[in-house]
Amino acid sequence: MNGERNFARALWKVYRRGNRPIPFAYQGNLPYDDPAFGRRMLARMLDEQDAAGSRISAERTLQINWLTNKLNLAPESTLFDVTCGAGLYAVPFAMQGLRVTGVDFASISIDYAKEFAAREGVAARCEWHIQDIHKMDFAGREFHAAILLYGQLAVMTEEQAQAVLRKIAASLRAGGKLCLEMLNPDMVDKTNSTWWFTDDRGLWGNAPFLHLGERIWDEAAQTSLERYHILHLETGEMDEILLGDRVYSVDFLTEMLHTAGFSSVHTYPAWDGLPLYDADEWIVYIATM
Ligand SMILES: C[S@@+](CC[C@H](N)C(=O)[O-])C[C@H]1O[C@@H](n2cnc3c(N)ncnc32)[C@H](O)[C@@H]1O
Repeated sequence: MNGERNFARALWKVYRRGNRPIPFAYQGNLPYDDPAFGRRMLARMLDEQDAAGSRISAERTLQINWLTNKLNLAPESTLFDVTCGAGLYAVPFAMQGLRVTGVDFASISIDYAKEFAAREGVAARCEWHIQDIHKMDFAGREFHAAILLYGQLAVMTEEQAQAVLRKIAASLRAGGKLCLEMLNPDMVDKTNSTWWFTDDRGLWGNAPFLHLGERIWDEAAQTSLERYHILHLETGEMDEILLGDRVYSVDFLTEMLHTAGFSSVHTYPAWDGLPLYDADEWIVYIATM
């Protein structure tokens, strides 16, 4: 009986959902810091056949080599990995002799990063912080370089993004470099669409669910909004996820980097030609203090 009431409530909620969510009004990112979701996402980050939330190890190796060169990294360089996830970049950098500091608010991922570093014998070269990057303060740490990969600067308001860039700038030494990976504005799908699918288990749950998705392009906010309603079919419980991706032109983001204190900015569309499966979707910024 309760289940039926839940289904009815859930479907009416979908029906009354409203046309256009306000970008970042109450949510803008996947719930990485929710332990149950974080655990499922970590499994996908580590899945070499069906990766999500990170890249497969062969691609990461190419990126790490490229970053080592572009960020002038050498043994004993200090690297700040902002939204480090499971340490899949930070730990290999530590294995090259760097000293790394990783910050992420998903405790499950940071736990994995710690184990990974210990397994590789580089725990002493790694410092981990479970923290929201909006609240972090690493000013004066004088890092040689920082990385903010996989577009996470886009899942927040412009004001928040500017504040995060200022915090990163404050953590770097003179001449220090930031690598920022952002979606290429030309590659973002700016059409509205809806879709649905069912599955037995996956990112959205460990039991059968119905995923109802919609994408809305908000021209005024230059933001792609995705809203998912996940109806759990055994209970009638429903989760609502609202994602926002603020799309920045190269000129606009370059200006934001200058405002944050960076003196020069170079851009590398499509990861400078690295053979990553989704390289075309990205622009990499290398900004120097
Ligand atoms: C797409 S994953 C990328 C992880 C890692 N950079 C990689 O490429 O393997 C995004 C990560 O950003 C973290 N994240 C998102 N928003 C955050 C915030 N406000 N504060 C701290 N971490 C955040 C998530 O927990 C997640 O681990």
